[in-house]
Amino acid sequence: MPGAVVTGWGIALPDKVITNEDLSARLDTSDAWIVERTGIRERRIGGTTSELAIAAGARALEHAGRRGDEVDIVIVATSTPDALVPGTSATVQEGLGIAGGAFDVNAACSGFVYALVAGHGMVLAGARRVLVVGSETLSHITDWDDRTLAVLVGDGAGAVLLEATDAPGELLAWDLGADGSLRHLLKCDHGGYLYMNGREIFRHAVRAVVESSTKALERAGLGPADVDLFVPHQANARIIAAASQRLGISEERCVITIDRYGNTSSASIPLALVDAIETGRLRQGAIVLLSGFGGGMTWASAVLRWGG
Ligand code: ACO
Repeated sequence: MPGAVVTGWGIALPDKVITNEDLSARLDTSDAWIVERTGIRERRIGGTTSELAIAAGARALEHAGRRGDEVDIVIVATSTPDALVPGTSATVQEGLGIAGGAFDVNAACSGFVYALVAGHGMVLAGARRVLVVGSETLSHITDWDDRTLAVLVGDGAGAVLLEATDAPGELLAWDLGADGSLRHLLKCDHGGYLYMNGREIFRHAVRAVVESSTKALERAGLGPADVDLFVPHQANARIIAAASQRLGISEERCVITIDRYGNTSSASIPLALVDAIETGRLRQGAIVLLSGFGGGMTWASAVLRWGG
């Protein structure tokens, strides 16, 4: 059966850098607390979700040598859309001149992996090219006087272009899950600010990443020892460390970008993936495990053989 492979990738980050010192100057917090409890040193803030998505998407297309009118579908994973209606993907469709359909996915921080799995499925259903974007401006729904959230969030976007191939494709297995009974732990009502029960999310997050990753790997007939590169959602360096340790995936096989970007929700996995590609950490044929969790709660893991 034909499958899909990633043929292009790109990211977009706002120019404005906010350091821990900048936040400490106006909030009751410190660089030491933020680094020790979260691993974050700085984050980027600015722009709109569609602007960042278009910039990341344009780079992914350019990298693959494709034009927007060669793309059948664009999926934008975001929990910070420009507006409730229309979807941010409509603005991205126009901005990139995409010839086909456009829709948003909101699965909070798991959104990119949900969209990636959906994109692979659409290729199996006949699409030739699907652009998958994760883009967020969490800064827009953050109360900058609330130290518990202000220190965590960042803005950014990452995109990959999936193209049909006659070979089996690179998605070996996936696991998507949700538990709506936990939706009170992380939420943002219409017109409100993000609310999070950090301690509870932390507890559930480690379990979700470990269980979901294990399921996806088992479905691929693999185990943690086979993983060449682990690309987890970047919410907290301690969550990543705890999950990696329980899975038995060593630090050298794990991608960390939270120190530079903070928690960028559905943009965090593509930002980390592209970082790994651009620093030469991803060779053809490598086994890549993506795993995210977020509001809902939702969780999502995908196992790829890079390059198919
Ligand atoms: N600076 C200084 N002190 C702080 C800050 C801050 N920014 N925030 C909280 N504190 C204090 C608390 O008031 C508390 O003080 P107390 O002991 O006197 O009561 C103390 O630090 C410890 O607070 P905890 O909440 O127990 O700190 P914890 O170690 O759990 O770290 C954190 C908090 C970073 C939020 C952590 O719980 C976490 O990362 N949780 C998961 C977050 C997550 O993954 N969210 C999912 C996605 S988020 C999104 O989508 C935006």
